[in-house]
Amino acid sequence: MLKKVTIALLGFGTVGKGVYQSLKNHQNRMKNELGFTIEIAAIVVKHPEKHHDFGDTTLITTDFHTVLNNPDIDVVLEAIVGREPAFSYVKQSIEAGKHVITANKEMFAHHGSTIIELSKDNGVQIGFEATTAGGIPVINTIKKLFQFNTINNVTAILNGTSNYILTEMRVREVSFEVALKQAQELGYAEVDPTNDIEGYDAFYKLMILSQLIFGKQPDWYSIKREGIKNITVKEIQKYKHQERRVKHVASIEFQDGNITACVEPIVLTREHPLYSIEGVENAVVIEGDIVGKITLSGPGAGALPTASAMLEDLTLIVQSNRSTPILAN
Ligand code: HSE
Repeated sequence: MLKKVTIALLGFGTVGKGVYQSLKNHQNRMKNELGFTIEIAAIVVKHPEKHHDFGDTTLITTDFHTVLNNPDIDVVLEAIVGREPAFSYVKQSIEAGKHVITANKEMFAHHGSTIIELSKDNGVQIGFEATTAGGIPVINTIKKLFQFNTINNVTAILNGTSNYILTEMRVREVSFEVALKQAQELGYAEVDPTNDIEGYDAFYKLMILSQLIFGKQPDWYSIKREGIKNITVKEIQKYKHQERRVKHVASIEFQDGNITACVEPIVLTREHPLYSIEGVENAVVIEGDIVGKITLSGPGAGALPTASAMLEDLTLIVQSNRSTPILAN
């Protein structure tokens, strides 16, 4: 007998729409693979007037309580920008016994450890794959496949917009402003791109990795955080002639009990594993004490890669709760 998983979406921007569309386009996947159907019960938005031409208008609501008070909703997928109301919604969803999947890096960098504790107390699961490095399954890889190794450092490109802009400035010699506009049109940059170009977005993702790998974060005020907005085409072209590339790199290291971290543009030579990461791609170089260096790379931003990460989390939650009553309605 087929069972049903009922979900709610919080936020309906680039990522929320990507999740909705992917579920519509691939309805049979969960059914065939897992024996479950997925039903979207509600989409919570701030500005309903922006969604007038959306087909399923009956799903749209501004009232989060319709989600909270609906016992049929098993999983809440949160893709809001910024800390609030995202954190309050996530907290209340967990306390109401709902599993939560989030794509919100700023919120999760600030409140991730509280959310995880809360989820344990309430017997629900949290998926946060989509917070870091877009479609690259870095969170679940570290969680599940780096158990025996000790990870001492990570070096990464974590902001797709910055990498896209730097690549366009080098390859096509377009200005920073033009490249940023393209990144916005392609759905890579945030609506307000300040966090992308000033390094905050990569910083939040690095803090999420730190919490996951080392169980704590360094003092935020001790970390150098620099974005890409002061880099000129002229500089990039100069390095290009020397076969060097400017990349926006986030790094973190654990040594003698201390965590050091840095987010900044760096000039890389051909030998560096991040040298060939181009366009919207992200990459994460993880150094394990037994395995050595492993590089995971893939699409770092955009509707579908981020939706993909959320839907993989959803699948994991469905798989691990197959026999519990919550998903057996
Ligand atoms: N604006 C983000 C980026 C989206 O460019 O990486 C993915 O988190």
